[in-house]
Amino acid sequence: MPSPFLSELGLTLPVLAAPMAGGPSTPALVTAAAAAGGLGFLAAGYKTPQALADEIAAVAGASVPFGVSLFAPNPVPVSHPEFRAYAAAVGPEAARYGLSLAGAEPVEDDDHWHDKIDVLRAAPVPVVGFTFGIPAPGIIAALRRTGALLVQSVTSAEEAKAAAEAGVDALAVQAAAAGGHSATLTPRLPLAGTPLAGLIAAVRQAVPLPVIAAGGIAAAADVAAAIRAGADAVAVGTLLLRADEAGTSATHRAALADPARAGTVLTRAFTGRPARGLRNEFTDRYSAAPYGYPALHYLTSPMRKAAAAAGDPERLHLWAGTGYRHATAEPAAAILGRLAGQL
Ligand SMILES: Cc1cc2nc3c(=O)[nH]c(=O)nc-3n(C[C@H](O)[C@H](O)[C@H](O)COP(=O)(O)O)c2cc1C
Repeated sequence: MPSPFLSELGLTLPVLAAPMAGGPSTPALVTAAAAAGGLGFLAAGYKTPQALADEIAAVAGASVPFGVSLFAPNPVPVSHPEFRAYAAAVGPEAARYGLSLAGAEPVEDDDHWHDKIDVLRAAPVPVVGFTFGIPAPGIIAALRRTGALLVQSVTSAEEAKAAAEAGVDALAVQAAAAGGHSATLTPRLPLAGTPLAGLIAAVRQAVPLPVIAAGGIAAAADVAAAIRAGADAVAVGTLLLRADEAGTSATHRAALADPARAGTVLTRAFTGRPARGLRNEFTDRYSAAPYGYPALHYLTSPMRKAAAAAGDPERLHLWAGTGYRHATAEPAAAILGRLAGQL
């Protein structure tokens, strides 16, 4: 039986394409997920408001259900002495690409939060998702008036309760196996590490909202297990990183397919906020990085762009969840359809 949540959105497949900022989520990936009967998310993070508006226009033209995911402000300000020490420590890595971090100052911003809300008010979309923070009541009310269904990412039953109190319509429940940044609302605290099925059950018990489950889903059996545990749908990120329609860099794609890679690790070395990615020289060397988001993101960003362009996987954030060995290079519809195969 399809859940009422799926019917409301007009979905026939309970397998969604999770938002992936930094390139992988493209309008083509989002429309491919919809064509398969699921739903995809555009990732607003790091983009300018105009680039977001352009992507929304591209997908809206296809007249399919889709979502937009935003980084909601929940800053992790960096301590200036720690920032200076970290800039000095990673300086030699950036210097390989002719970049100097001497004199770098921390940048603290909110990823154009209010301008992106204005974009979504001017060009309403079917679903809006939030990660990192829970928006203020006025923002939730304003987006609700656009008709959007609001989805809050959470990593625990406590966060689920806070999201329900804030008045969102559904939860993206993310286990620590997930690739990319954790959605945790308390990024300075260790992640709980509860396996996905247990997390779904705990959230289900705590709040009555529909659940989209994510984190470490690698095969059809994982999807079936998540639905059995109480999820209305699942979302996959990592499994789509090598999909034909994804905008993942060639360097990142090659690393995901490299059998010599030594698994994944939770790291704040690249961005100052916990994220899961493939282990590489940078995550090994700088595991003691300070907290500080987005200051560390901006500090290491030019180095990472240069590394990606040069085909250097050792100085690039290779975001990946624990299921990365199952990521395949083929059309997204084939990946999503196969995942739904045991339902
Ligand atoms: C490259 C990458 C970028 C991501 N960017 C975002 C993002 O912009 N917003 C968000 O809510 N989650 C983001 N995530 C998390 C995913 O939405 C999702 O929770 C996660 O990929 C699920 O776990 P899985 O990777 O094991 O499938 C990202 C994940 C990856 C791998």
